[in-house]
Order: sequence, then C-alpha cells, then structure tokens
Amino acid sequence: MKTVAALLSMAAMAHALVATTSEPSLSQIKTAAATTLPESPVSNVKGVAFDRFYQIWMENVAYTDSAADPNMQWLASQGILLTNYHGVTHPSEPNYCATGGGDTFGMDWDDWTQIPSNISAVPDLLDTKGISWAAYQEHMPYPGFQGFNYSNQETYEDDYVRRHNPVVLYDTVVANETRARQIKNFTDFEEDLANNKLPQWAFFTPNITNDAHDTNITFGAKWERHWMSALLANEYFMNNTLVLLTFDEDMYDLSDKNATFDQGNRVYTILLGGIIPDDLKGTQDDTFYTHYSSIASVSANWGLPSLGRWDCGANIFEIVANKTGYINYDVDLTNLYLNHTYNGPLTTGMLEEYFGGSSDLKKVAGSAWTWPVPNTDAKCSAGNGVLEAVKETYSGMSATYNYTSPYPWDEASGYNVNVTATRKTSNSTSNSNSSSTNATSTTSGAGRSSRISLGAAFGSMVALLVLLQ
Ligand SMILES: *[C@@H]1O[C@H](CO)[C@@H](O)[C@H](O)[C@H]1NC(C)=O
Ligand SMILES: *[C@@H]1O[C@H](CO)[C@@H](O)[C@H](O)[C@H]1NC(C)=O
Ligand SMILES: *[C@@H]1O[C@H](CO)[C@@H](O)[C@H](O)[C@H]1NC(C)=O
Ligand SMILES: *[C@@H]1O[C@H](CO)[C@@H](O)[C@H](O)[C@H]1NC(C)=O
Ligand SMILES: *[C@@H]1O[C@H](CO)[C@@H](O)[C@H](O)[C@H]1NC(C)=O
Ligand SMILES: *[C@@H]1O[C@H](CO)[C@@H](O)[C@H](O)[C@H]1NC(C)=O
Ligand SMILES: *[C@@H]1O[C@H](CO)[C@@H](O)[C@H](O)[C@H]1NC(C)=O
Ligand SMILES: *[C@@H]1O[C@H](CO)[C@@H](O)[C@H](O)[C@H]1NC(C)=O
Ligand SMILES: *[C@@H]1O[C@H](CO)[C@@H](O)[C@H](O)[C@H]1NC(C)=O
Ligand SMILES: *[C@@H]1O[C@H](CO)[C@@H](O)[C@H](O)[C@H]1NC(C)=O
Ligand SMILES: *[C@@H]1O[C@H](CO)[C@@H](O)[C@H](O)[C@H]1NC(C)=O
Ligand SMILES: *[C@@H]1O[C@H](CO)[C@@H](O)[C@H](O)[C@H]1NC(C)=O
Repeated sequence: MKTVAALLSMAAMAHALVATTSEPSLSQIKTAAATTLPESPVSNVKGVAFDRFYQIWMENVAYTDSAADPNMQWLASQGILLTNYHGVTHPSEPNYCATGGGDTFGMDWDDWTQIPSNISAVPDLLDTKGISWAAYQEHMPYPGFQGFNYSNQETYEDDYVRRHNPVVLYDTVVANETRARQIKNFTDFEEDLANNKLPQWAFFTPNITNDAHDTNITFGAKWERHWMSALLANEYFMNNTLVLLTFDEDMYDLSDKNATFDQGNRVYTILLGGIIPDDLKGTQDDTFYTHYSSIASVSANWGLPSLGRWDCGANIFEIVANKTGYINYDVDLTNLYLNHTYNGPLTTGMLEEYFGGSSDLKKVAGSAWTWPVPNTDAKCSAGNGVLEAVKETYSGMSATYNYTSPYPWDEASGYNVNVTATRKTSNSTSNSNSSSTNATSTTSGAGRSSRISLGAAFGSMVALLVLLQ
C-alpha cells in the first residue's frame, strides 16, 4: 500500500507539474505565509438536530480492517457506528470532490483539478443562511494556499496535499479571496478553538502521516483517538455538535493485480459529538449512506437547498431524518458498484497507465464530455429544493443524471443500472428487518434525460464496466 501510495503521489505530482505553471515557489510560500491572515467567521444558526457539523477524513482503509482496530472500536463506543456508509469511487480525490460539490464529474485520478465557478459547492449552500464554515488542513502553509502540495521541509515527505482538500478544488470557493482564507491549517483550528471562534461547518484533513495514508490503520486510529479525546472532553467544542469520522475510500492498491475491491467501498464511519444521546452511544445505524449523505444531512438540518447533484436524493443521517421526518431508502448492495464512476469532464484515463497497458481501464478523453447539468426542480431529500444560483445557471436545461436517486447511477453507460432501492417503512428503525412497503424502484429503464456526444466514448465506457466486473 505504501509503495502504491508513493507511486500515486509521484504520478499525480508529475502530472500537476505539467498541467500547471503557477505552482508557487518556496520563497513565494514563505512570503505569503508571513502576511496572509486566516479568516474566522462565526455564526449561530440553529439546526433541527445540531448547530455544528465537523467531519474528519482518514484514508484508504477497508471496513473490516478499521473494525478490527481497538482505537477505532473505542471511538465507536463513544457514538453511533454507521455500518453501511460508502465511499463513492476510487481513488482519493474524486471522493473529496464528491463531498465538496455533490459529484465526481467522472474524476478517476488524483491529479490537479480546478472546477469552474459556475459549479456550486457546499459553502454556497451554507452562505445562503450565513452559516460560518472552514476547512482545516493540517500543515497547509498559509490560509488560501492553492498549490498542489506542501512537503515536510526537513524530510521532503508528503505532508499537506491538495487532493485531500474538498473545497480548494472549487473555483466558486477560492475565486473569492475572503472565502479562500477560510481554508487554513490545524494551528488555526487550535486558535479558533481557544478563542471560541469555531465555525458551524468544518472539514478536517489530517496530514498524510496521521490520516493513515502513508502509515496504516494502527497509526491512524491511534492518532485519531488521541486527537478526538481532547475534543470530546471540551465543552465548547461538543456543544450541539455532530462529528463525522470517516475514510475517503476502502483499500485501494493498484499494484495488486489480484485485488478485488469487493467490499463495495464500505468505510468504517462514526458519528460523535454533544448531540449523541447517552442511550445511543455504542449503538449502530445500518442505513445506507454515501459521502453525498453528509451534504443532504447538513441541508436537512439547517433548512438549506440542495446542489441538485447526488446530494439531492442521498439518504439523510437517521439522527437528522428522525427530526425532519424524511424516510430513507434501503439500497440493495448486490449490483451496486461504488468502486468506479461514470466518465465525465474530469476523466483522465490515468488509471489505465497503472494497469500496465492492460485493458483493465480505458481512457475516454475528458474533452468529449461536458460538465453534467444538475437537477433544478426537484424537492430533494432535504426537502428544500435546489440552490437559486444553480437554477439560474442551468435554467431550462435537463439534468444529465437522475440525481434524485439515493445512489449514483447512469443509464447511458450502464453504471449501477440494476440496483434496487426501496423506501423504508416509516416507523422502521435502521436495524429492523421489518418488511418494506412495495414502493420498490429499479433504475433500469428510467434515465437521464440528455447526453452529449457518446459514440466511441460510450464504447470505451462499456469496456471499462465489463472489465471492472
Ligand atoms: C499555519 O498557518 C499559519 C497562518 O495562518 C502559519 O503561520 C503557520 O506557520 C502554519 N502552520 C503550519 C504548521 O503549517
Ligand atoms: C504530520 O503531522 C504530525 C503532527 O501532527 C507530524 O508529527 C508529522 O511529522 C507530519 N508528517 C510529515 C510528513 O511531516
Ligand atoms: C466573498 O466572500 C465573502 C465571505 O463569504 C462575502 O462576504 C463577499 O461578499 C464575497 N465577495 C464576492 C465578490 O462575492
Ligand atoms: C502498522 O504498522 C506498524 C509499524 O510498522 C505495525 O506494528 C502494525 O502491526 C501495522 N498495523 C497493521 C494493521 O498492519
Ligand atoms: C451552547 O450553545 C448555546 C447557544 O447555541 C449557548 O447558549 C450555551 O451557553 C452553550 N453552552 C456551552 C457550554 O458552551
Ligand atoms: C494472483 O493470483 C494468481 C492466481 O491465483 C496467482 O498465481 C498469483 O501469484 C497472484 N499474484 C499476486 C501478485 O498475488
Ligand atoms: C467493484 O465492486 C463490485 C461490487 O462490490 C465488485 O463485484 C467488483 O469486484 C469490484 N471491482 C473491482 C475492480 O474491484
Ligand atoms: C430514530 O428513530 C427510530 C424510531 O423511533 C429509533 O429507533 C432510532 O433509535 C432513532 N435513531 C436516532 C439516531 O435517533
Ligand atoms: C442489468 O440486468 C439486465 C437484466 O438482467 C442484464 O441484461 C444487464 O446486462 C445488466 N446490466 C449490467 C450493467 O449489469
Ligand atoms: C408511527 O410513527 C408515528 C409518528 O411518530 C406515530 O404517530 C404512529 O403511532 C407510529 N405507528 C406505529 C405503527 O408505530
Ligand atoms: C405488496 O407485495 C405483496 C407481495 O407481493 C402483495 O401480496 C401485496 O398485495 C402488495 N401490497 C401492495 C400494497 O401492493
Ligand atoms: C429517479 O430515481 C428515483 C429514486 O430512485 C425514482 O423514484 C425515480 O423514478 C427516478 N426517475 C427517473 C426519471 O428515472
């Protein structure tokens, strides 16, 4: 895993160096670090289930490996274990991208990515109600840093990496210099905590040592338990707070040609924080969730609109859904593939290279695809419709995918077409085996309403799907 990790990161860096000419030099970084101040907005908007939402993402560990770790078990005993929560694809970056903006846009690698500003992201939802937010990125050299990475300056080992930062990828966020400075490091977090200036929404990325990427679950879980323990004892931090601890994806080892990523990208996920009632500590919630569920849950909690992408139909954390009355879907995992995604403008084909020129994965040029059009008229699982800015930008256009589904799928490429989702019965608990209503829907036959140039690209996508099976 380590060799592969190094390989991935080198390849991604080489690509980035080719792709960008604006990577700041070390002296530019030093100058900026000396003068750039973090932005720490505060607000107090009441939510139905929580007043603050913080998520901490670790890297690349299969569910069963996390579940076997005693420190992860301890963390689960302090909250609710989500046993059916999934990453949405491989490798890392598209998962971060998904949680930041509700789509992978076909991304299949960890390379330099900038998403155009006519695509909305979570901060745009939060800003509709003035809900303060931040992204805390360990060892990011200064607030708003947009470079590809920042290494340990003594060992030159990977430390901060852009590909694990969900909001920096979106131009809608970083094009605004004030918003860019809400992306800051763990030192800034310690200051915000000490000054009682925590935001209401935050994303935490530990560096690549602590997040288990360049180490392993034993190391990562030990770090996470230690780091969380101090916060779990902090009254200010815990006050009406919901914390989501998760992993970007399950194991991903390209060097192992025999690897069968057969765990459906399920990742060990825990809800913690002051809003978890004592009687639910140490329990589990078996509802199907994905990274898109965190966006839908935040929207439901604060009465925010949807991005109109995969957050629109995503299941909502039961602890929130119980309060808003939303009935989640049971999703049959039998034919569900969350270990790759459909092709789109961010498909690079770089995975193909690392399958050694074998025919495992086929490149489909990103330029053959336009940016997918979001849904603009759905009510969505959070119940508040779609963001005004999204409606304006895409007015009169039909959605590329059926974004009201609780899992991603695409009819044109045959992606997840045979998956079945069923509404839970309204009074069933997530753990119950009670029979469902008959409102079962398969995705087959009902599909996205528009698609651009398919042709050869479609053929290759079919090849990819066949080979992935
Ligand atoms: C974190 O960012 C601050 C500026 O907000 C900078 O002074 C500091 O050096 C950074 N710390 C680390 C460990 O990168
Ligand atoms: C990551 O951060 C920890 C402190 O939290 C530090 O000990 C470690 O050296 C950092 N990793 C790198 C590669 O610098
Ligand atoms: C930039 O973001 C800040 C903070 O969200 C906001 O107050 C300001 O209006 C934005 N500026 C522009 C030009 O959008
Ligand atoms: C993680 O690495 C440490 C040190 O190399 C080792 O002792 C430990 O057994 C490893 N954990 C797992 C789960 O492989
Ligand atoms: C928790 O937050 C509420 C406002 O949301 C405030 O009234 C209360 O004093 C806070 N309690 C603590 C312990 O910080
Ligand atoms: C892959 O599986 C085949 C067949 O079981 C076996 O011969 C081969 O050694 C395996 N390769 C690796 C790298 O594990
Ligand atoms: C992808 O996931 C499916 C369903 O979980 C599994 O059957 C398949 O083997 C996985 N593909 C790869 C390449 O791991
Ligand atoms: C949600 O409500 C159900 C049914 O009352 C209950 O069994 C379950 O524990 C609740 N879950 C949470 C997380 O509050
Ligand atoms: C979906 O199911 C149909 C009917 O069983 C089958 O013909 C088709 O190949 C399946 N598609 C995929 C992508 O698995
Ligand atoms: C279902 O839940 C509703 C609202 O909580 C309650 O009024 C009703 O009695 C419940 N029905 C059953 C069969 O438990
Ligand atoms: C639900 O399905 C069962 C089994 O197929 C059937 O007996 C029942 O009539 C159906 N109920 C409704 C409301 O359609
Ligand atoms: C979209 O997905 C939802 C949920 O799975 C389903 O109820 C609906 O019929 C689908 N719509 C279309 C047009 O396929």
